[in-house]
Amino acid sequence: MKTFNRFLAVFILTIISNTIMAQNNKAKILVLIHSDNGGTYELAKQISKGIESNSNVQSVIKQVKSSDNPKLKDIPVASVDELSSYDGIAFGSPVYFGNISTGMSDFLSKTVNLWTSHALEGMPATVFMSAGSGAGNELAVQAFWNSLSVHGMVLVSNGIRGVAKIDKNIPQGNTVLGATSLASVKNVERPSVGEREIAFEQGKNFAKIIFALKGTFNKNSEIKISQAKSIEKVLAEKNIVLPIAPKPVGNYSPFVRSGNLVFINQVALKDGKIMNPGKLGVSVDENQVKEATQQTMLNVIAVLKDAVNGDLDKVKKVVQLTGIFNTKDDYTKHADLMNAASDLAVEVFGEKGKHARATLGASSIPVNSSVEIQAIFEVE
Ligand SMILES: Cc1cc2nc3c(=O)[nH]c(=O)nc-3n(C[C@H](O)[C@H](O)[C@H](O)COP(=O)(O)O)c2cc1C
Repeated sequence: MKTFNRFLAVFILTIISNTIMAQNNKAKILVLIHSDNGGTYELAKQISKGIESNSNVQSVIKQVKSSDNPKLKDIPVASVDELSSYDGIAFGSPVYFGNISTGMSDFLSKTVNLWTSHALEGMPATVFMSAGSGAGNELAVQAFWNSLSVHGMVLVSNGIRGVAKIDKNIPQGNTVLGATSLASVKNVERPSVGEREIAFEQGKNFAKIIFALKGTFNKNSEIKISQAKSIEKVLAEKNIVLPIAPKPVGNYSPFVRSGNLVFINQVALKDGKIMNPGKLGVSVDENQVKEATQQTMLNVIAVLKDAVNGDLDKVKKVVQLTGIFNTKDDYTKHADLMNAASDLAVEVFGEKGKHARATLGASSIPVNSSVEIQAIFEVE
């Protein structure tokens, strides 16, 4: 019985380790989209299904920037630096004036480091797009190819794959370079059944090519890409641990994003309690208020991290910090207190951390905090 149990344990371990190895051997494809209204995302899901119909390949859908659209808000945001870690990329974007969208164009314009270090050379790419009427459809897909060929990517066209099966009695978005959808041609639900089918076939074919070319080009582990230090690295090096972002205690949001600006207000909460509460000169001294100010700024950065979907490298600028302190009427050294927050902003974000600033005293601050910080950031 003992021998049988040992045999069974070895058998199970072998199966588990084989499964893990097979998983690690799978080619990984990024389906990278920009989408305003969700049409491109619908196509992306079909592309992804086609890719994953090949058991040797797995895919992940990410977007080039965060979106407030409920259909898109939970899709993770890709960083430029991660592109070179995949075995292939399927790019999707809306058609804007016979071209790629500005969202996709902005993202690609940040790939200069990847370009000059040849990081995407030889990597397979394919493209798909969501159009309105379809005006300039093929021009737009061609424009996508222009940018990707500058990177030296191996462009995989779709040809007439799947076209035999589609309903020819309605307008369809098929192009030979890649699937598209005619989202505003509303006589049928869009993407139409045929457009979805073509996207699926494109994904399936792309997966086949990816698997065949896997390992034939350099991935980022082999290429030194010159880039600025990531904020997470800075935090780790300086032993700065961000707290869990405090939850709101009223009918408001911990942050609001308007365009590229993020607005955040925090007090000196730590582990559910206010750190060093009270009025300066009455129940707390300057050092205690500075400590509370630093904690408040850490809370601000923790909330900011949520606002940029966990990627603090998306912070372009600390625009303004306003420090409000619980002081007596005749107190004048607010600027000294606020340096605890300003220094932290510069320590974490470097040049991008230099900000405009205001400080003021108040006769009381909510929940008896000795400090409140209002912060404005510019983000990608
Ligand atoms: C600035 C702008 C320009 C556009 N230009 C075109 C165009 O040239 N041809 C076209 O067919 N649709 C055009 N459209 C429509 C979008 O391509 C269409 O709404 C698309 O389905 C959006 O994709 P999404 O649902 O993924 O956001 C344009 C939309 C915008 C906002």
